[in-house]
Amino acid sequence: EKGGYEHFMLKEMYEQPKAITDTVAPRIKEEQIVIEELGMSDEEIKSIQKIMIVACGSAYHAGVTSKYIFEGLARIPVEVDVASEFRYRDPILGDGTLVLIISQSGETADSLAALREAKRKGSKVLGIVNVVGSSIAREADNVMYTWAGPEIAVATTKAYSSQLAALYLLAMKFAGVRGKITPELQREMLSDLRKLPKQVEVLLKQQEKVQKFANRYLAAKDIFFIGRGIDYAISMEGSLKLKEISYIHSEAYAAGELKHGTISLIEEGTLVAAVLTQEDLYKKMISNMVEVRTRGAFVLAITNEGNTEVERAADYVLYIPKTNKYFTNSLAIIPLQLFGYYVSVGRGCDVDKPRNLAKSVTVE
Ligand code: F6R
Repeated sequence: EKGGYEHFMLKEMYEQPKAITDTVAPRIKEEQIVIEELGMSDEEIKSIQKIMIVACGSAYHAGVTSKYIFEGLARIPVEVDVASEFRYRDPILGDGTLVLIISQSGETADSLAALREAKRKGSKVLGIVNVVGSSIAREADNVMYTWAGPEIAVATTKAYSSQLAALYLLAMKFAGVRGKITPELQREMLSDLRKLPKQVEVLLKQQEKVQKFANRYLAAKDIFFIGRGIDYAISMEGSLKLKEISYIHSEAYAAGELKHGTISLIEEGTLVAAVLTQEDLYKKMISNMVEVRTRGAFVLAITNEGNTEVERAADYVLYIPKTNKYFTNSLAIIPLQLFGYYVSVGRGCDVDKPRNLAKSVTVE
């Protein structure tokens, strides 16, 4: 059933172009974003005061990415919380708060409890769910499915990528209805969105290159991921991918926070993966890269094609193709997934079934 791949995780990484296409294509009709299952009129979309996103793990990271897009593009305030925190903090969900629950399995206990809490408080709940007919899908007021297909590996890849795609559509839809994007920009973004699957495919071809690089870090003690803005969100996901399947300690930091503590952990040869896809933040990121490099770090940069300036501050660079600034996470995650995967393989870990973890966390 692994279709010739050594692990489900690798197979599922390769299924990402299809997962993105299957999530996006049915929702674009004559150059318009149509999300019928949303069950919201334009008036209702216009009256949203706040979006509260609740999820766990990678689904939470997809939520964090989308915060930048809902806010930046649609100008709707967004709060993101992990479900285990949200459910016990008596959250304030005023009128006009739309609650998004993101979950691959649709069975995560904390996310389901958060959904129930949100409904009890009278909020409208939209589920973004992969498993059809799962508990979260059934109990949400409306559900927008991600069409990634069954995911077997514990570490999520294609479901995460399809969550991002669904969230892009939702943010663009809201921005359009609320008059925050011009039809030209929407057309341009849809065209970039349609290019993502091909671009992901191209990035997956860097497999061998990333494997060679990963093999240098099989004995690493700590690995850090840094980014700013939306790149901080992907740093968190990159760090989780690595640590959950390789058992190497790793953390993600908002690059500007380094000098408030973390930088003291940098030693000679510590790997720091820096993600910089946001042009307006290049300079700030480069200065953070210089800071860690001066203290002995080996800096791996993941950046946009053409940003060769980064080479002066990095020891190794992986480029991603050009896309809309809000979609870069879908591309930057590919080398990060490959990196985590190959470190895990190189260390002889059980890639698809890492110790102590379950695919679906149905207990608190
Ligand atoms: C990480 C991973 C987990 C899940 C989390 C939420 O690779 O798979 O962090 O993302 O357990 O699961 P779902 O999306 O099923 O609610």
